Amino acid sequence: MQGSRILLVIGGGIAAFKSLTLIRDLQREGCRVVPVLTRAAEEFVTPLSVAALAGEDVHRDLFDLTREAEMGHIQLSRDADLVVVAPATADLMAKMAGGHADDLASTLLMATDKRVLIAPAMNVRMWLHPATQRNLATLKQDGVLVVGPDEGDMACGEFGPGRAAEPQDIVAAIRGALGPARPAPLRLGPEVAAKPLKGRHVVVTSGPTREPIDPVRYISNHSSGAQGSAIAAALRDLGARVSFVTGPAQFAPPEGVEVIPVQTADEMQAAVEAALPADAAVMAAAVADWKVANAADRKMKKGRDGMPVLEFAENPDILAWVSQLAERRPQLVVGFAAETNDVIANATAKRQRKRCDWIVANDVSAGTGTFGGEDNTVTLISADGAESWPRMGKDAVARKLAERIAEAL
Ligand code: CTP
Repeated sequence: MQGSRILLVIGGGIAAFKSLTLIRDLQREGCRVVPVLTRAAEEFVTPLSVAALAGEDVHRDLFDLTREAEMGHIQLSRDADLVVVAPATADLMAKMAGGHADDLASTLLMATDKRVLIAPAMNVRMWLHPATQRNLATLKQDGVLVVGPDEGDMACGEFGPGRAAEPQDIVAAIRGALGPARPAPLRLGPEVAAKPLKGRHVVVTSGPTREPIDPVRYISNHSSGAQGSAIAAALRDLGARVSFVTGPAQFAPPEGVEVIPVQTADEMQAAVEAALPADAAVMAAAVADWKVANAADRKMKKGRDGMPVLEFAENPDILAWVSQLAERRPQLVVGFAAETNDVIANATAKRQRKRCDWIVANDVSAGTGTFGGEDNTVTLISADGAESWPRMGKDAVARKLAERIAEAL
């Protein structure tokens, strides 16, 4: 974080006072904070106190010709390493989601080519309102990172989600968003987006597998295929040719990738083998560990021979197999680890055992909502150690991972 430049947009809410602590905490981490106040924010914190604390001019929602000539809003938004909106009010979120640019803050947010992190804070009803939730989903889809809100007593006397995240949690999210390297730009349209993976071939596995018991029954798992689809789409957006080997997922596969539908783990392995050679392999599928060794080729009938007894045989471990190929091993092999406990320790051991280069570890314990949910909290584990990413949408995880893959190749 040392030396990073944060453009901090302070929205007009009671939580604006927390931004004063945030400025100080960020400065302690060696960041430079350039503050922007919306007109409403000035009702809660004074430009003078913000300027004094930040040691910077405060950019305000006043049309200032001299300032505009000296420092255009476009330059202001691009000189930053990260744009942070704290507190992000319902109104600011709506403006961002709708693409409005009718004041300095919303104009900066439209003009920036940097990542944007928002810390929403508002009354619980406003937070739960379908309009806000719709805007939130749109923003996440656009790649905007979100921290909070927390649940608790609110200034308005109600209780529930809507409280601004605490400054130390916002700092942690900023640290994650900045990452060890330069922050990557937001997803842009195809005309302006960089294509660092052009000419590269990546194999992605995704979704669950289905292991037949008889022609009408099978064993499978809860994987929706959401994360794998998002990864394939993100790699495609960066210019890669993607072979997408997918089990029966709940999501339609992304467009613009080669889709290879499979059912069983054996079929998935054969499809991956046929897709090689590749520069990278991302094994996001939830492969069934076992198949039924005595699967019947006719429908099993009840009552004839009592309860059926299923015998199991181990499925091939596709990730371990591809990681240990003597020839045609992709330069970069990325696995996933779905864990319910001791996430980092288990995933680190899994990386070593399967000999892949990276493991994306995620907590799928009950209550995290990862399976089938929109968000994911992941830790990227490599030979260099573990790097925890803030909770973000599966699309944002996919984009960040695709960018990392592009850097590594
Ligand atoms: N994987 C695979 N083939 C298998 C099992 C898993 O390719 N037969 C891959 C998954 O795609 C994922 C990684 O291995 O990238 C880890 O999957 P996970 O289910 O977390 O691990 P397991 O091998 O099942 O290990 P454990 O039972 O110890 O959790």
